[in-house]
Amino acid sequence: GILVLDFGSQYNQLIGRRIREMEVYSEIVPFDTPLETILSKKPAGIVLSGGPSSVNSPDAHLVDPALFELGIPILGICYGMQLTAHILGGKVVKGSKGEYGKSEFEIVRSNPLFTGVSRHSQVWMSHFDEVETVPEGFEISGRSGVIAAMANEKKKIFCIQFHPEVTHTAEGWKMLENFVENICRAEKNWKLTGYIERTIEEIRTKVGSDKVILGLSGGVDSSVAAVLIHKAIGDQLQCIFVDTGLLRLDEGRKVMENYGEHFHMKIDMVDAADRFLDKLKGVSDPEEKRKIIGKEFVAVFDEEAHKFEGARFLAQGTIYPDVIESQSVKGPSAVIKSHHNVGGLPEEMKMELLEPLRELFKDEVRKVGEELGIAHHLVYRHPFPGPGLGIRILGEVDREKVAILQKADDIFIEELYKNKLYETVSQAFVVLLPVKSVGVMGDERTYEYTCVVRSANTIDFMTATFSKLPWDFLEKVSNRIINEVQGINRVAYDISSKPPATIEWE
Ligand code: XMP
Repeated sequence: GILVLDFGSQYNQLIGRRIREMEVYSEIVPFDTPLETILSKKPAGIVLSGGPSSVNSPDAHLVDPALFELGIPILGICYGMQLTAHILGGKVVKGSKGEYGKSEFEIVRSNPLFTGVSRHSQVWMSHFDEVETVPEGFEISGRSGVIAAMANEKKKIFCIQFHPEVTHTAEGWKMLENFVENICRAEKNWKLTGYIERTIEEIRTKVGSDKVILGLSGGVDSSVAAVLIHKAIGDQLQCIFVDTGLLRLDEGRKVMENYGEHFHMKIDMVDAADRFLDKLKGVSDPEEKRKIIGKEFVAVFDEEAHKFEGARFLAQGTIYPDVIESQSVKGPSAVIKSHHNVGGLPEEMKMELLEPLRELFKDEVRKVGEELGIAHHLVYRHPFPGPGLGIRILGEVDREKVAILQKADDIFIEELYKNKLYETVSQAFVVLLPVKSVGVMGDERTYEYTCVVRSANTIDFMTATFSKLPWDFLEKVSNRIINEVQGINRVAYDISSKPPATIEWE
């Protein structure tokens, strides 16, 4: 396959996905992965990704120069191009203003990376530094005002300053395809049906006649993992579904219907709403709420799991981006909120992990889910945070507020589906503010809560913009919430982007 060395760009996962869309296996590893490890993976090609660092800074992310002497084709993208220039003796300087966004690219000397690519095309740039002098043995192959491409054909090293993996680079797909298929001649052996069959076999071999426990949340990852494992070992799988009382309207019933009745999986549903709400009484600090919910979740899950004695494995819906993030070079985008991964392994449980989706990107997980017979709308659900409505009810949480928010949220989501907007946005929900305002209904003055409708569009959830939902649609949602939900008399729409706001309100 193709190995992507990760220098921290937010587009890196996209490079990996694009390559897999060509049915070629791709793996993303940290930039400082030792050379022997790289070689042991026998890559057909190596991509040096973009990243926020500068090659001239004292703590620059560098690689062993021997990487360029392996005879393995290399594609340097953005920072990867600057790095190549820097290490091989070229010169990289701080540009006068940087270049962000769409730019016009001109091929000045064609090479195999540009086979079938127009001489002039639109590309997506995002850089401050630029290559001023190319290293010996390299030729300038493209320009966009700056040196936008260089190559050493003999050594099969190709570099571009722009990002071929994003759709704004009109012919980026073609360039990646040229690299992967023609320059690297990578084997096309990455197919999802094959993956499913292989994984089912692996699960059977690994588990044998033992029992497996899985925390089912109703979200995409744990659901697909559950169905896949169930397909492999049937009733040896025991799912535990914890109703924290902070889930969406009717979530528990739906999970039992979808996975218990439809797939005949063994699911133990725990109604722990009282426990969670009790622990949250009087607490309004967001971080404190997260910690309480996370801790309580582990406690409840642990108690339930102990009822199934002799289980040897704990299954989790860990997916490839989780793996990449846990190994990745953390840029300035460090943890801003303690993203408590609710559903995590209680440490004292000492069970072996079973993570059948560890190698898959989200879109691959969805395809596997559909292939396994899970309904489309279930595998295309938006993400839902572990602490749930606990962090969408600002301030103190109580049962009454949960009921109000569930109804409002349900109306918004239902309307998104009805108007075919659900899949055009990345995450949508309603937030309940601890603020009451005055309104009028009929001849009556009202004094009730305000809720906020939030919808965000994003690729990686690190940056996001608010969704530009149609006015008529928002009007309808607002009318329905105010008319149908007792306790809310005002609806606001969140028009903040991330950063500086976050997607959630707490
Ligand atoms: P923010 O609010 O930080 O959220 O912009 C980014 C994404 O992370 C989700 N999120 C969480 N997911 N546990 C989770 O499993 C958490 O504690 C948590 N907090 C935020 C959020 O819903 C969004 O998708």
